[in-house]
Amino acid sequence: MAAAPGITHRIPLPYGPLGAFLRDPLGFQLQARERFGDVFRFRIGPVTVHFLYHPEHVRRVLHDQQKNYVRGWQYRLLRRLFGENLTVSEGAYWLRQRRLAQPAFHRQRLPEYAGVMVEEASKLASRWRALAPHEKEVEARHEMSRMTLAIASRTLFDRDVSHEADEVGQAFSELGRYFEQRFHHPVGSPPLWVPTSTNRRFKQAVSTLNRIVTAIVRERLRDETDHGDLLSMLIQARDEETGEKMSDDQLRSEVLTFLLAGHETTSTALAWTWYLLASHPAIRQRVREEVKTAVGDRLPTAADAPQLQTTRAVIQESMRLYPPIWIIPREVVAEDEIGGFRIPPRSTVVLCPYVTHRHPGFWDSPEVFDPDRFAAERIADRPKEAYFPFLSGPHQCIGNEFALLAMQLVVARVIQEFDLTVRPGLIVKPAASLGLWPDGPVWLTVKGQE
Ligand code: HEM
Repeated sequence: MAAAPGITHRIPLPYGPLGAFLRDPLGFQLQARERFGDVFRFRIGPVTVHFLYHPEHVRRVLHDQQKNYVRGWQYRLLRRLFGENLTVSEGAYWLRQRRLAQPAFHRQRLPEYAGVMVEEASKLASRWRALAPHEKEVEARHEMSRMTLAIASRTLFDRDVSHEADEVGQAFSELGRYFEQRFHHPVGSPPLWVPTSTNRRFKQAVSTLNRIVTAIVRERLRDETDHGDLLSMLIQARDEETGEKMSDDQLRSEVLTFLLAGHETTSTALAWTWYLLASHPAIRQRVREEVKTAVGDRLPTAADAPQLQTTRAVIQESMRLYPPIWIIPREVVAEDEIGGFRIPPRSTVVLCPYVTHRHPGFWDSPEVFDPDRFAAERIADRPKEAYFPFLSGPHQCIGNEFALLAMQLVVARVIQEFDLTVRPGLIVKPAASLGLWPDGPVWLTVKGQE
């Protein structure tokens, strides 16, 4: 089987760890793990950072001692910009919000959202239908981002944001650019209050998103109808113990993060999935046959998902190679010991699914794209935390089943009609930024199915 295209990292370590890390965070970490083992550390200014790659260490941080490893100062900027919400909070506040939001993601609700997912994939298919006879190209990341924004906004607040889509899309891109720049230049980036053009554009993007979401929430609070979407569920949710509901501001913050957390991650995972499928014709053929047998020519539904096991395995393998969230920092509360290293209080630990997903102790030929790794009997042979694109433990992604279903249905719906191949000679590499994005356009040729 061919290796996943474009994964080559060779960064010499002697340039100093921080410089090497910032230049190529993925390659640097792969090399460092090979050279130093499952734990290594360096200092960034006053902060000691431990990088932890072994599944047992991941388990300790996310499960066994999870109260000792919290979302600390690393999430401060996000908190300040968008307010406290599920993705950045901890402790009693987090638990309450998690309890309130959980019913909206219950398995039983998924079939209701599936209709929207398939409708949006069908809209994409009808646009591509005009391209297929001429074998025209599409850019996967752009196409997936547009579609997942529509899925997220319709399932979240039952609203077609098409007239705001450009504004919302641009605002998200601006956030992406800002965090990318801050990530690569952590030292020397002027603080947000300095009126540089980057800071101004960024603050404008944040206020655009806050404004649009606030208007949607306010409008909905005036209209008392149950729209059967996530926002209706969040509005109706009451804390089991206190009977309290979410305030308007909490609703705005949660809805905005659901939009951000749900849309970007899913579109990144789908773009990589298409890239891998388009580069591996034999696996593409297996997925096509599976969809033909399980679904035929009708529209797929949530009830088809259990029959689409190869499709699911392709998506899981795509997120093994390219986990959309590639780095997870936590702040240490009290001293601990991991892998023989003393982990001091107030220091930082970093988990990196990109590296653990390639750990040679748990993955044979880790660079090879092989969806059969996710066959049930092979999963049983691995520790659970060898694979954690959605995290693990209490903070596990609340939208994981939602996202997996959306991706399964989109892949099935598209592959029913189209054969996608990658532009000859195109090699796309991962670029580590706010997410693990393709480092350039992912050009795919759209052909009709024979
Ligand atoms: C492929 C798609 C997705 C991936 C890879 C993904 C990954 C993750 C990861 C790694 C975390 C933990 C982050 C941390 O603790 O620092 C997380 C948390 C979260 N995700 Fe997702 N996510 C995806 C889709 C979604 C969707 C569709 C939604 C909602 C509609 C969502 C909502 C959330 C929320 C609310 C949290 C915070 C959970 C908590 O701490 O209780 N995600 N996600």
